[in-house]
Amino acid sequence: MLTTKDIIKEGHPTLRAVARDVSLPPSQDDIAILQKMMEYLQNSQNPEISLQYNLRPGVGLAAPQINVAKKIIAVHITDETGKLHSYTLFNPRIVSHSVEKSYLTTGEGCLSVERDVPGLVPRYARVTVKATNLQGEEVKLRLKGLVAIVFQHEIDHLHGVMFYDHINQQNPFQPPEGALPIER
Ligand code: NI
Repeated sequence: MLTTKDIIKEGHPTLRAVARDVSLPPSQDDIAILQKMMEYLQNSQNPEISLQYNLRPGVGLAAPQINVAKKIIAVHITDETGKLHSYTLFNPRIVSHSVEKSYLTTGEGCLSVERDVPGLVPRYARVTVKATNLQGEEVKLRLKGLVAIVFQHEIDHLHGVMFYDHINQQNPFQPPEGALPIER
């Protein structure tokens, strides 16, 4: 199983690299990587297991964060309404997005960043994502709110982008104009 020490930290070059497309249908190796990533998220949200293995809790993970420069992400998060969104995806990409922006009022964190980075991260309020699931099927997801933000954060990792790249350096806590605040 993956533990927190398997997750590379900022400064590692893989976090700044552009990840490769996964060849389809996904290989058994790529499927196993994705299953391990989801297992980490689920374990990290389980109070007993996370305590036992000292896992830092996470709601999303991208393969570059375990030093695999491939377009693979896992998301496991309960949204504002209590609904669980659990996704294991190859080659996710944003195919369209709203004009409207949103942001987490608390700012964002990342399993690869071991410090608090203050500031608001502007995101699109709604995104449509196309990807391939674990079974090798093409999926199209329409996402909003917290889940849409997590997806944008994880897909950024596939392009070598860190969340703090988006923070306004002059005015870190200036809400983006007209943006929808999201409470976590
Ligand atoms: Ni991250």
